[in-house]
Order: sequence, then structure tokens, then C-alpha cells
Amino acid sequence: MNPASPYLPLPVRLTKARFDTPDKSLRTFGVAFEDPAHAASFRYRPGQFAELSVAGFGEAPIGIASSPTEGPELLFTVSRIGVVTSALHALEPGDRFGVRGPLGNGYPLAELVGKDIVVVAGGYAVTTLRSAMVWLLDPAHRAHYGRITFVYGARSPELLLYQDVWRQWMQRADVDCRVTIDNACQGWDCLVGFVPRVLKDLAPSPENAAALVCGPPAMIRFSLPVFEDLGWQPEQIFMSLENRMKCGIGLCGRCNVGNRYVCKDGPVFTKAELDRLPPEY
Ligand SMILES: Cc1cc2nc3c(=O)[nH]c(=O)nc-3n(C[C@H](O)[C@H](O)[C@H](O)COP(=O)(O)OP(=O)(O)OC[C@H]3O[C@@H](n4cnc5c(N)ncnc54)[C@H](O)[C@@H]3O)c2cc1C
Ligand code: FES
Repeated sequence: MNPASPYLPLPVRLTKARFDTPDKSLRTFGVAFEDPAHAASFRYRPGQFAELSVAGFGEAPIGIASSPTEGPELLFTVSRIGVVTSALHALEPGDRFGVRGPLGNGYPLAELVGKDIVVVAGGYAVTTLRSAMVWLLDPAHRAHYGRITFVYGARSPELLLYQDVWRQWMQRADVDCRVTIDNACQGWDCLVGFVPRVLKDLAPSPENAAALVCGPPAMIRFSLPVFEDLGWQPEQIFMSLENRMKCGIGLCGRCNVGNRYVCKDGPVFTKAELDRLPPEY
């Protein structure tokens, strides 16, 4: 966070950018701080987000896809939706913009030491779960957790992000990595079927376990009953919300649901916490 004011972005430079999908609607950015002191002070956890700002256009909250274990550069994947995200897509390597953060609570990975972890991701909501997985599988952390399972699905192969990393996870003996697409297609060498189906076949035990879940509403709606049928309790399931927000620091009241601020108390909540909130989230 900028020590001068939490509203002031820190200056960053785009180091690399690539379109992730043939329709160019998703773009992944590498981002470096202009000032090494800012890079050193930007201490984040998997599951946190930042406000990315482009002068003249505004700012948008975007999940941090990199893991702090990967070094000082940050990674973001941005879907082109409207004003700010289109301005972000128009940036080229070398261009300057702003980062305000890190914001939000993140996944409570330190509290989950000793547990089996099941990560369930759908579509481009995989961003902060990429961060969590890279962090968990880092040599400094892997031994502190039990079984680690990664279930990731998208409509088609070209909509699956971060193939470079999850293909590596597939080669590892210490992670069960299951990647699926909705319908079979030529050349596809992994699973076919919806994420909830894969989860049901996998039947992860709730015994001493926690699940991190982020994906489109349909995936969430059909995955939660699978966990429930297997005996998982709402306190064991962590979900990340993407409500509309503005300040990102619990001051403007734009993002609150009931008495909770999604930007500050979240964006990660247990299903038990969400069950206690009014239904508008
Ligand atoms: C914690 C958090 C993490 C996020 N992580 C990512 C990420 O990693 N990658 C990513 O691409 N996006 C992410 N988002 C969503 C992203 O913030 C919005 O898509 C972005 O703010 C849209 O800004 P814009 O100026 O381009 O769109 P606008 O011009 O403001 O809006 C364009 C259209 O999109 C709708 N819209 C805008 N924001 C949202 C929203 N949050 N929910 C539903 N509809 C919306 C508007 O109503 C409008 O119809 C995240 C959001 C949150 C809160
Ligand atoms: S975005 Fe301002 S209070 Fe959450």
C-alpha cells in the first residue's frame, strides 16, 4: 500500500503481456514496480487482489495470479469487460500504470497447515487459485500440508489458463491434478465433463481437509452439493466473491453485504459465513 495514502496507486510497468484466448478477451500481464522499495513493501498472500488503474480511465479490482514465492513481479489475468479492463488490454510492454494494494484477506493458508487441500477452479476465476497452488507446492510449504488436489475446468481447451503450470503439476507425484473440458474435442488428452462430475468421481474426503473454490456461478451451484453429500461442513469450504467495489479498503460502503465488506472482510469467506449473509451476494 502507498504509505502516503491508501488511495494512491504505486507506479508499475508492464513487463510482458499475452492474450490467453483466441478471441483476445483474456490477457495475462507481468507487472514490475518502478521503485524497488515499493516491490519490497508489497507483501501479499494468495487470494488477495489489487486495484489496477489506468490514468484517464479509472481502476478495477483484479485478483493477484502470481504467488509471492515467485519473486517481485506480479501476474494478473484480465477479462476485457468494460472501460478499465479495455484500457488495461490496450497497454503494451513498457507502458506505465498503477497498482493499489494488496487488498482483502486472501486464503487462510497458514491456518490450514496439516490439512488436505482440495482446490476447485472454473474458467478464468482460476487466477487467485493459481497463486494458492504455486504457494502450496513451493518447497518451503509443500511438506506442511497433506494431500493436495487441483480440479480445474473450462468449456474448451483454449479457455484453460496457465497450461504451462498445471501441465507441470500433472507430472508431480505430490499433487493430484485433474483438468477437464465440457465436451470432447480432437487432441485433448485430459478429462471431459463438468467440474462437479469430476469432483463427484474424485470424492475427496472431508477428514482433516479444506476446499478453496472459485468459479462461475453454475460451477459453484453444482459443486457445493457434491461437497455436502460427501459430508463436508460449511466451515471447511472457502469461496472468493467478486462483488462490485470502489475503494477496496472498507470505507465507501459500495461492496457491503449485510454487515460485511467484501473488499476488507473478504473477498474470501467460508460457506458458513456466506450462509449467514443476506442472499444478495
Ligand atoms: C476481488 C475481485 C477480484 C477480481 N478478479 C478479477 C480477475 O482476476 N480478472 C478479471 O478479469 N476480473 C476480475 N474481477 C472483476 C473485475 O473487477 C471487473 O470485471 C472490472 O472491475 C470491470 O471493470 P470495467 O471498468 O472494465 O467495466 P465497467 O465499464 O465498469 O463495466 C462493464 C460491465 O460489466 C459489469 N461489471 C463490472 N464489474 C462487475 C463485477 N465485479 N461483477 C459483475 N459485473 C460487473 C458492469 O455492470 C457493466 O455492465 C474481480 C473483481 C473483484 C471484486
Ligand atoms: S469497496 Fe469501498 S467499502 Fe468495499
